[in-house]
Amino acid sequence: MRQHIRNESDLDTLMMDMTIEEKVGQLSQISPSIFGAFGKTMDETIVMLVEGQITPEEFGKLERDYHEDDIRAGLIGSMGGIHGAEMANALQRIAVEESRLGIPMLFGLDVIHGFRTVFPIPLAESCSWEPELARRTAEAAASEASAAGLHWTFAPMVDVARDARWGRVAEGAGEDPLLGSRMAYARVKGFQGDNLRDHQHILACAKHFAAYGAAEAGRDYNTVDMSLGKLHDVYLPPFQAAVDAGCATLMSAFNDLNGVPCTTNAYLLRDVLRKQFAFDGFVVSDANSVAECAIHGYAEDNVDAAIKAVLAGLDIDMSHGTFRDGLINAVQEGRLQIEAVNEAVLRVLRIKMRMGLFEEPYRTTTERETSAMMTTEHLALAREAAAKSIVLLQNKHKTLPLSLDTGMIAVVGPLADDAGNLLGSWSGVGESKDVVTVLNGLRAAIGEGRIVHAVGCDIQDPHKKDEQKAIERIAAAVEVASIADTIVAVVGESSDMSGEAGSRMDLVLPGKQLDLLKALHATGKPLVVVLVNGRPLALPWVKENASAIVELWQPGLQGGHALADVLFGKVNPSGKITATFPYSVGQEPLYYAHPTTGRPAGKIKFTSKYVDGPVEPLFPFGYGLSYTTFSYSDLIILQDTLPLDGTLKVQVKVSNSGQIAGDEIIQLYISDPVASQVRPVRELKDFAKVYLAPGEEKCVHFTIPVSKLGYHDQHGKYAVEPGEFRVFVGTDVQADLSATFYVNA
Ligand code: NOJ
Repeated sequence: MRQHIRNESDLDTLMMDMTIEEKVGQLSQISPSIFGAFGKTMDETIVMLVEGQITPEEFGKLERDYHEDDIRAGLIGSMGGIHGAEMANALQRIAVEESRLGIPMLFGLDVIHGFRTVFPIPLAESCSWEPELARRTAEAAASEASAAGLHWTFAPMVDVARDARWGRVAEGAGEDPLLGSRMAYARVKGFQGDNLRDHQHILACAKHFAAYGAAEAGRDYNTVDMSLGKLHDVYLPPFQAAVDAGCATLMSAFNDLNGVPCTTNAYLLRDVLRKQFAFDGFVVSDANSVAECAIHGYAEDNVDAAIKAVLAGLDIDMSHGTFRDGLINAVQEGRLQIEAVNEAVLRVLRIKMRMGLFEEPYRTTTERETSAMMTTEHLALAREAAAKSIVLLQNKHKTLPLSLDTGMIAVVGPLADDAGNLLGSWSGVGESKDVVTVLNGLRAAIGEGRIVHAVGCDIQDPHKKDEQKAIERIAAAVEVASIADTIVAVVGESSDMSGEAGSRMDLVLPGKQLDLLKALHATGKPLVVVLVNGRPLALPWVKENASAIVELWQPGLQGGHALADVLFGKVNPSGKITATFPYSVGQEPLYYAHPTTGRPAGKIKFTSKYVDGPVEPLFPFGYGLSYTTFSYSDLIILQDTLPLDGTLKVQVKVSNSGQIAGDEIIQLYISDPVASQVRPVRELKDFAKVYLAPGEEKCVHFTIPVSKLGYHDQHGKYAVEPGEFRVFVGTDVQADLSATFYVNA
């Protein structure tokens, strides 16, 4: 039966008609890739498929039939992992036309950095320091995903990440809360647009709430313990920004926070999210994280976990039927009041209503789906985004840009002609066959004749298979390189070395890649190292010896073209790193905004440093070179004594002192030299990206409300403390142009 639900009173009427099973159905998300067919587990069904007992077509059908009955019974409110207009519309038809109440379902998927057109990983994109770019790529992803029947993406991931061992650093905007907040806001706007009824957009889901990026030792899913001050100052601001952008949904994190799993954390889900942030959408658990509360040792069993989650303010259980199996009995046995369930159901139905899903449950067609994917505009955007994400980390003796007309180039390394790893983790439904590899991108730019190619080694070499063979492969690559004038070595990580469950104990180049670089370097030819990776790496030898280092990240479909644009100077690189690169893994967690110690690193022994290596990073936060040079002068604070409700106004002159036009990312940091609590050495408070022609000078203005200069105390209370502040403006976090101002009580 089709429902017409247009307002709160329609919702109340619908709720009165719903059985407890139907209500819990709205709170249950199933994912065909996790549940099996015919009551078998997915693993058992896959075994049947692998053993040839069923064909792939039968497998698909079995799986679908299995879910169809539940949909018909109104027991499924949303599905994860489903896409394709035909499939989505067929399943929706069952929910809308054949279930008793006809409540439409939501279809969600991890559309993290593109759907069919894969854009750079979010960490890469954040290096553009261009929120508008992030908005545009999210919008393009939404238009493709919505055409494929999706209503909802499990993105953006807005977790601040300060430990490069954690693989999911790839999925976020790096280590800084301000930049992270701007990116979060932009990406929510891109995915969702301004009107949930718009069929070209999809619901966003800010995740993982909260502090998932602070997993101890950088190990995924690990425990998190932190002060309320740090939680509110560093980890929560991007979520607040997402909510401010209208984000309709959030996802709870896997980790426990100060001893309480986030999925059952009433402080987070009620006090912070609903009261403080005034969020009125719904919260979905992470996959199976409700049931995992029992494994955490925080609930007796799944039923107890389900009760605790609902009471804490969680709305939807993703993927393991824990709510379905637990909540119905819990209510019937009086262990849980129905009001708690009602509250969650209403929040879910309200979003469906705001989307206009009751009136228009079929938001796409197969025709629209066919024409929406990988359009010329989307591919051009993917190329632009990949080029803007590139960070030039080193360029000795102006090795780059390379000449468009002369010289042989050896394109060497395990990632030189690799397609799949350029996609990065969570690459939607992107396909390797559509990736422009580095080799192909360079060939397209200068033709085949000037390029030679060799692989040299694998990305990883965990088994130390055949030493002799490895030596021979490297020697063969060196021989190929010996006929070239310049070597471009493409090295890094495979895409499964970062992303979820992609934590690393070391941050060096895996396998024999460093040996390959050393052998190539020994030829004496200019060595341009191109990095393909999902996190900051520790590469002191490379910094010491390479002529140039180009951070390409995992750039998506157009990576090869974007790299060629930069290597041959069609694009002047402007990206700057948003996560500090360490000298060694032993420095992690390494981030610029660390609290000042009582013994800052100095020349004498008893200061905060290491006995066996530097304390400084390999490359600092905000760092990145250009083919031109920029100079800064005339930093002026317009009024250097301000009231608490005042506005700090800063101006600085920036000029392009080189020969090539380029974009500069100007960064403004603040320090608070004396406070009631120890403050970070510096904090980013604003930034601007400015285009300057050669010789051009611009006066750049920043305005920062004094109210933004405070911090949260250990009880989570925010205040701005009067006194002295310093402002630093420059090209990265080490900016030394500074001025002082005062805030009066
Ligand atoms: C687990 C991941 O942590 C989360 O980010 C993702 O959205 C879900 N799985 C669904 O795929």
